[in-house]
Amino acid sequence: MQFNKFILLLAIISPLFSFSQKAPSIIPKPNSIVLNNGMFTIDKNTGIQFADKTLKPTAVYLSDCIKHISGISLTQNAGAKKLIAFVIDKSIAKEGYQLNITEKGITIKASSPTGIFYGIQSLLQTLPAIRTNAPLTVQAMQITDQPRFQWRGMHLDVSRHFFSIEIIKEYLDLMASYKLNTFHWHLTDGGGWRLEIKQYPKLTEQAAWRVDAWGKPWSWYELAFNADKNRSTYGGYYTQEQAKEVVAYAAKLHITVVPEIEMPGHSEEVMAAYPQLSCHSIFHFGQSGDFFASKMEGNFCAGNDSSFTFIQDVLTEVMAIFPSNYIHIGGDEVEKESWKTCAKCQLRIKNEGLKNEEELQSYFIKRIEKFVLAKDRKIIGWDEILEGGLAPTATVMSWRGEKGGVEAAKMKHFVVMTPGSPCYFDHYQAGPEGEPQAIGGFNSLMKVYNYEPIPKELNEEESKFVLGAQGNVWTEYIATAEHLEYMVLPRMPALAEVLWSSKEQRNWDDFNSRLQNHFVAFEQKGLHYCAGNYTVNIVPNTVDGKLLVTLNSEAWNGKIFYTTHGEEPTAQSMPYTQPILIDSSIELKAVVVVNGRVMGLKAARQIFTFHQAMGSEVKYTFPVSDYYKGDGPNTLTDGIRGTAIIGKNWHGFSGKDMVATIDMGSQKSIHKISVGFLQAYNRWIFLPSSVTIEVSNDGVNFTTIQAINNPISTSELQVFYDFTCSFASRSAHYIRVTAKNTNCPEGHPGAGKAAWIFADEIIVE
Ligand code: ACM
Ligand code: ZN
Repeated sequence: MQFNKFILLLAIISPLFSFSQKAPSIIPKPNSIVLNNGMFTIDKNTGIQFADKTLKPTAVYLSDCIKHISGISLTQNAGAKKLIAFVIDKSIAKEGYQLNITEKGITIKASSPTGIFYGIQSLLQTLPAIRTNAPLTVQAMQITDQPRFQWRGMHLDVSRHFFSIEIIKEYLDLMASYKLNTFHWHLTDGGGWRLEIKQYPKLTEQAAWRVDAWGKPWSWYELAFNADKNRSTYGGYYTQEQAKEVVAYAAKLHITVVPEIEMPGHSEEVMAAYPQLSCHSIFHFGQSGDFFASKMEGNFCAGNDSSFTFIQDVLTEVMAIFPSNYIHIGGDEVEKESWKTCAKCQLRIKNEGLKNEEELQSYFIKRIEKFVLAKDRKIIGWDEILEGGLAPTATVMSWRGEKGGVEAAKMKHFVVMTPGSPCYFDHYQAGPEGEPQAIGGFNSLMKVYNYEPIPKELNEEESKFVLGAQGNVWTEYIATAEHLEYMVLPRMPALAEVLWSSKEQRNWDDFNSRLQNHFVAFEQKGLHYCAGNYTVNIVPNTVDGKLLVTLNSEAWNGKIFYTTHGEEPTAQSMPYTQPILIDSSIELKAVVVVNGRVMGLKAARQIFTFHQAMGSEVKYTFPVSDYYKGDGPNTLTDGIRGTAIIGKNWHGFSGKDMVATIDMGSQKSIHKISVGFLQAYNRWIFLPSSVTIEVSNDGVNFTTIQAINNPISTSELQVFYDFTCSFASRSAHYIRVTAKNTNCPEGHPGAGKAAWIFADEIIVE
């Protein structure tokens, strides 16, 4: 009865409601949006009102944006009939805002101009993206919002390829529209020095230029080798005035620019100009541009005080340009060979009572930290700065996975998360067929969106040390503004939502739906973007001793079709509706279809080799490595063989034997067991020294079938090898495989250290 009355009431009043009310497609998603009745139109009678003088630049920013899309000049005249009011309200959280749009006007409240600025960004996302003659009408609504993390960053490497300040400003504009607040500017690296330093003119006269290898973005290493030195014409740098202009531009967008000056490694370009700062300055680095041509050293000599003088001089000029609290001092991937063979470095190790080159690196960073602290700034560095002892006040940028971040947070150091997966936006996001060449890896939009910056290893107290996260854009393969846009759109907005929106607000489908409107805006603005990852994900799962395969796709409104015998799938193939049971060997191929069209250039493909243990539960005596978990706990019984892509389909074990026990669910008659392993010499992965295969019917008493010794040489670079035993048919319910781990062999860079074991499948016939 009540219910009917309610329906009736709705029917009567419904003309008063606008049922076309639709939540705006704001990214990052605000914490709360309440839609109300009515509309407000921004027109020539609209003025901006604010009492606090510090809001003047924010008002100018909004006026400029409105003028840009409509030609309308908002007045700052108190007598304006319609008002957009900015109100400072100290009770609102830092960077948070309240945006209230009614038929009468718009109010943005925040505790600071930054919060007002973010309120403006939300408002702008409800308006047309480009110049329009249509009225600027916005739906009445109330938004209450604040960010989850304080470090919402994007990085850009301008060393491997140079990007002009116009492109940098566009990048900052994009960041601001998604409420990102930290721009990590990777200004120096082996590819070229990019900042004018008045005391060291050769940095920009020589180290900023290299041999032009247009069209071969990365192979300039090789090209430079035989280069005509007169062709060292590729490069560029920012004058100090230009860098200051970028800092000022960013400040208006409430973005802090954190400059990075690499040390003590990744400095080949410095050594090209000032070879005396390297360990063995006997190398002839020759003319500008050929700094990869000889046996190049890329490290500052840590035993030479001139290195520190140079860096301190450089940092003094850097700090005069960049007001940021943080100075990024690099610290990654220091190749220690030159230090090992340098008398000065070795003397430093002795005199300072250091144990080894790791501690020498730590000495280097701590010495620079002291200098930076004395200037009232703080250092941040890549996670290698943990090695040999972390500098007392350093913040750690965790890029080699999350491990460095976890370690640093547990030591009560601040941390910024940028794990290669999924925060490196130089990796593929789709394809890879049809995509521009990328450095490798696969960080799709959904993977970025599903990223959780607080590692699960941290408790609540430790989590507070995670300042946030950042997307990194290394530019070895990215030479143009168009390509740069393509790599960050739409991964930048996805990461922005991860960093801004509360965890409860995050929902992939909802994000993907809002994103479609942003795609329209990108197109209108002429921005290049990746429309989607159309490669179907094939996900094996074991359920009750059976192997079920789930297919999913990131494509908006995509439908999946598949075949099981290797045929090319089309929109007429089998539609995917539920997990597929694998009960025979198949070649699965799947495509996603959007609006009747097969998307992507190539179907996703997976061969499943059926056997008796497929889908069985596997238990391990020693745990599988967190980094190489394959497809999940039952990777060894999912019918999927590993490939040369080591991050996929393999279970990795480091320093421990693999002891895997399979429960086949019931007694089965078996006559052959094979266990597949990988040897990848350069990745420290070696075949086990022996593999012992046992069977049991009760899971307690096991009978050894065979112990098989490794017949393959440890010097083979890459081998896929199955340890196999055949025997007279017998019954077994359980199978136990013990693979003996080894150390890396003599002559290997890791000689004597623990090797990895990589296993992909236990095949039971
Ligand atoms: C890095 O990617 N080498 C920080
Ligand atoms: Zn040295």
